[in-house]
Amino acid sequence: MIRAAITAVAGFLPDNIVTNFDLEKIIDTSDEWITTRTGIKERHIENDPKKATSDMAVEAVKLLCKKSGISPEDIDLLICATVTPDMVFPATSNIICAKIGAKKAWGYDLGAACSGFLFAVSTASQFVETGRYKKVVVVGADMMSRIIDYTDRTTCVIFGDGAGAILLEPTSEDVGVMDFSLHTDGNGASHLHMKAGGSLVPASHDTVDKKMHFVHQEGQAVFKHAVYNMAEVSANIMKKNNLTADDITWLAAHQANKRIIQATSERMGIGSEKVMMNIERYGNTTAGTIPLLLWDYEKHLKKGDKLILSAFGGGFTWGAVYLKWAYDGSKSGK
Ligand code: ACO
Repeated sequence: MIRAAITAVAGFLPDNIVTNFDLEKIIDTSDEWITTRTGIKERHIENDPKKATSDMAVEAVKLLCKKSGISPEDIDLLICATVTPDMVFPATSNIICAKIGAKKAWGYDLGAACSGFLFAVSTASQFVETGRYKKVVVVGADMMSRIIDYTDRTTCVIFGDGAGAILLEPTSEDVGVMDFSLHTDGNGASHLHMKAGGSLVPASHDTVDKKMHFVHQEGQAVFKHAVYNMAEVSANIMKKNNLTADDITWLAAHQANKRIIQATSERMGIGSEKVMMNIERYGNTTAGTIPLLLWDYEKHLKKGDKLILSAFGGGFTWGAVYLKWAYDGSKSGK
């Protein structure tokens, strides 16, 4: 049986860092509130107006190619998970492929908000498992700062910009993507969405005046669904694969709120020492969080480690991926 294994991971964050103390100067908030309610201390925000999501993704994919020793021309397929594409069309994946010279690759964007990376890994793995493709890149990239209202304290403290990328390759060993469980519920759309800019409410002076092109989030409603569903889907995938808490080496959960991640690990019975966490430095980078976690923790990962990746996001979307790590991360320089 052919499995799809992650054989390299890379990431990119814009240089500019915005701390909670910086936000205290522009909105009515405090470092204490943000830290205790979310776990976030700082986030990277792109301050060059000429840069877009594809530019962050390009840096991540270039590093990925360098680390894995492949040329962009070797890539068969590139999937970009994002809700902040450079433009409505063409797909950001096309722009990334053109910028890096991935001439053979085709690609598409996948919009599942914070669950985007997991949805993309799950679909990408199918192309590898069927034997169709040998080198598939999944990049999760979001420049959330471009769709955030920096006068709205309920959303602007949470999000950051960033991109992470992985390479999926076939393996006949007992490693790679073992299982996934994905869900959507469009009834949750009203709690977390962008009100205008699509075919329902096209962009107009009025939509701009009414700030309808920014993230609208009803925090508490989303929080309740996130806590329940992320914990449930993570516990269920363990049960389905006969995994106990002792079997799991790492939980890589979407970094939206430290309290949601803790609730998930508690439901799984997993100690905090097994929980990957970088929310304090990056905030919520939407589709970027999970590959950025893998990049940050790569040096600790060993072949055969059992990982549960889980996420919850706008849509609503949620899911979990169970995978066995395929290589010794300590030998792979960041
Ligand atoms: N600074 C200070 N006070 C604030 C701030 C702030 N930045 N933001 C809100 N408050 C106030 C509120 O006004 C409210 O005041 P009130 O009691 O006087 O009315 C109080 O703090 C509590 O507000 P809540 O909304 O109840 O705060 P909560 O503890 O729920 O935290 C948060 C808000 C962090 C947004 C939380 O609800 C959350 O994490 N929600 C889930 C986010 C998520 O998982 N999103 C999905 C992924 S994102 C995606 O898919 C794009």
